[in-house]
Amino acid sequence: MSRPTDTRPILAVETSCDETAVAVYGASGLLAHTLHSQIKLHAEYGGVVPELASRDHVTRVLPLIRAVLAEAGLKPTDLGGIAYTAGPGLIGALMVGAAAAAGLAAALDVPLIGIHHMEGHLLAPMLESPAPAFPFVALLVSGGHTLLVDVQGVGRYALLGESLDDAVGEAFDKTAKLLGLPYPGGPELARLAETGTPSRFKLPKPMTDRPGLDFSFSGLKTAVLTALPRDADAQTKADLARGFEDAVTETLAIKCARALDATGHRTLVVAGGVGANLRLRERLHALAAKCNGQVFFPRREFCTDNAAMIAYVGWVRRSEGLAAVTGFPTRARWPLTELRPVNA
Ligand code: KG4
Ligand code: ZN
Repeated sequence: MSRPTDTRPILAVETSCDETAVAVYGASGLLAHTLHSQIKLHAEYGGVVPELASRDHVTRVLPLIRAVLAEAGLKPTDLGGIAYTAGPGLIGALMVGAAAAAGLAAALDVPLIGIHHMEGHLLAPMLESPAPAFPFVALLVSGGHTLLVDVQGVGRYALLGESLDDAVGEAFDKTAKLLGLPYPGGPELARLAETGTPSRFKLPKPMTDRPGLDFSFSGLKTAVLTALPRDADAQTKADLARGFEDAVTETLAIKCARALDATGHRTLVVAGGVGANLRLRERLHALAAKCNGQVFFPRREFCTDNAAMIAYVGWVRRSEGLAAVTGFPTRARWPLTELRPVNA
């Protein structure tokens, strides 16, 4: 059953939040991936409604599994294991993908592999060519997490710093809301910032004036609220968006430089939804060039939630699959540092 030498492809299901995604990864790399975004479903509520997310995953997941298998030219019986995102995330949403994955694994009599969503993000740059080599510093910036991690190998993670309040993606989303932008706020704010005047609003760079690698982003959102005139015109909003984006980008760059210094690593890996931000990508490229290092990002579509990253981790961790599954564990909260090392 759970054969480490099994080189049959792994199918992965990701349903931790508002994307239903399925992918297949095999010995020759990523074989197929697909995704349905629930943006339209949640837009009128200004954010993700967990119950609606779960119900929508239920209707999407099986057609997407069929579509991905067809795209990869595979039959279900060609699969060697089923991976799924076991956490962290919205518990009801996670359970939909977990149940589908467990059902498929039981029917095919193949191992079921529960994957940590943030490890998926962290290792997403491994889907690119060239891929980063260990060790490296990882900056994980998503809607729920802001983490700086010392990565010695797969599952060998030491936390260097994290946000003490809002995650950076959450700060983007809340600030976008203040500026009257629709959900999902991050990409909308980035678009508005393109027409903003650089330096009109100089916002604070939280916790950069003292040593340490932790972050705090909730004050930055308040700084935007304080600076926002009641009758702000379109240009003022764009200028504030630019001021916010620049403050976040600079804060992240300062902490990344410190983390590289503290660890002695020369390689920086950036992943998670906010990693799709072009100004951040540009700034961190400049930082890497300045310190003779290298920075790696996943392609932009693999920064935000996707199943390709889960399928990759499922492939790397395929020997840990559970046979004869009687349940399908899910965890709303799950520290990354609890993961076990893999001798890859
Ligand atoms: O990784 P992700 O897709 O989901 C989570 O695991 O949370 O990250 C979503 C977050 C959201 O807060 C979204 O606004 C932000 O990533 N985001 C961006 C951009 N694209 C997505 N933030 C800034 N600029 C972007 N281009
Ligand atoms: Zn994510």
